[in-house]
Amino acid sequence: MNKPKIAYVGMSADLIHPGHLNIINRAKELGEVVIGLLTDKAIASYKRLPALAFEQRKEIMESLKGVIRVVPQDTLDYVSNLKEIKPDYVVHGDDWKEGAQKEARARVIEALKDWGGELIEFPYTKGISSTLLHEKMHEIGTTPEIRMKRLKRLLEVKPALRIMEAHNGLTGLIVDNLKIKNEKGIKEFDGMWLSSLTDSTAKGKPDIECVDLTSRLTTVNDIMEVTTKPIIFDGDTGGIPEHFVFGVKTLERMGVSAVIIEDKIGLKKNSLFGTDVEQTQDNIDSFCHKISMGKKAQVTDDFMIIARIESLILKKGLDDAVKRARAYIEAGADGIMIHSREKEADEILEFCREYKKFERKVPLVVVPSSFNKIYESELIEAGVNIIIYANHLLRSAYPAMVNTAKSILLNERSYECENECLSIKEILTLIPGGK
Ligand code: SPV
Ligand code: MG
Repeated sequence: MNKPKIAYVGMSADLIHPGHLNIINRAKELGEVVIGLLTDKAIASYKRLPALAFEQRKEIMESLKGVIRVVPQDTLDYVSNLKEIKPDYVVHGDDWKEGAQKEARARVIEALKDWGGELIEFPYTKGISSTLLHEKMHEIGTTPEIRMKRLKRLLEVKPALRIMEAHNGLTGLIVDNLKIKNEKGIKEFDGMWLSSLTDSTAKGKPDIECVDLTSRLTTVNDIMEVTTKPIIFDGDTGGIPEHFVFGVKTLERMGVSAVIIEDKIGLKKNSLFGTDVEQTQDNIDSFCHKISMGKKAQVTDDFMIIARIESLILKKGLDDAVKRARAYIEAGADGIMIHSREKEADEILEFCREYKKFERKVPLVVVPSSFNKIYESELIEAGVNIIIYANHLLRSAYPAMVNTAKSILLNERSYECENECLSIKEILTLIPGGK
């Protein structure tokens, strides 16, 4: 009896559309269909995290007519799955001849030669794609729950997340929408940092916790109204534990994914002043108490409380930082942020080396504002999971605004600075829906 032929189809199968069915139907004509379902990790390596989790996508694919098996494909590369299954055919749309999957395609062709398999390509179904559907979904928006969970989902599948500061709706839109496409796929920010420094500065106030939580939450709300990406909230010291618990509940209810609180007490000053100003670190026990009160207050398992260690900022040394990290994790912290204001990343990397030895680890966060020569890849190598660009949109906007204002004062008209500005047409159409 002839063994049935096997047709292997690799796909993300997020938001199933006729394009997927088209490929599967073509594959069915060739043999029994095995789906190599890209895991969340494989998808996130070259584009946005899928809307549906792997298990959900698997369930849908398994119920499609003609699909006999669904196997996980953990990388964009097909080869290890192909070697195991040795399919007679690999079936794919012809859209992968260019772009992020070009290399994977070449390797498929090479691998199939080993057992005389064949790559069958069909014209890509135009006018519909998951990317297009994602854009539509983005227009619809998100819910607090989906947004909140997204940070943990991203942490599970990406080596490190790239987070950018936002301090109002417009900067939120930049972080949410900006994409750079290259050979490896689409690069974008994974979420937003609600910096106390930029939120306060944008309101013309110093970064000393004088912008109260209600006001900070108005900024969060403005950003949430127009974006979908996860938010990490800079909670400063978190206040006294009895107040912090209400902050946690509110942020969680709004759909913020994480709060970072720093182990300082008294009048908070920005960390980047270091020892130039008076700053007092909390003692370990009382900060642990604050963390555990916060953890008890949250309702879901999805919200994260990240403990920020100021030992290096305050020149208390590496040992103190390491000791605190251990204690804060023990107290229930879902993440550790280690901060430094040195120009070089040496002390951060030293901490990372010690942190690697921890038996119990939680995601590690760094904010490379002063040690800005280090590349993301080096931080990832050191074990960092979240990289926050904490203040750059506001810092770059301010000089541009001052220059424009100066030019108008100097020239007594705006003609000279026109080229530095968005055109009237551009600003009118920057935000859709104005017409
Ligand atoms: C912020 O962005 O407000 C921070 C990071 O807390 S830093 O300014 O480096 O202290
Ligand atoms: Mg801050």
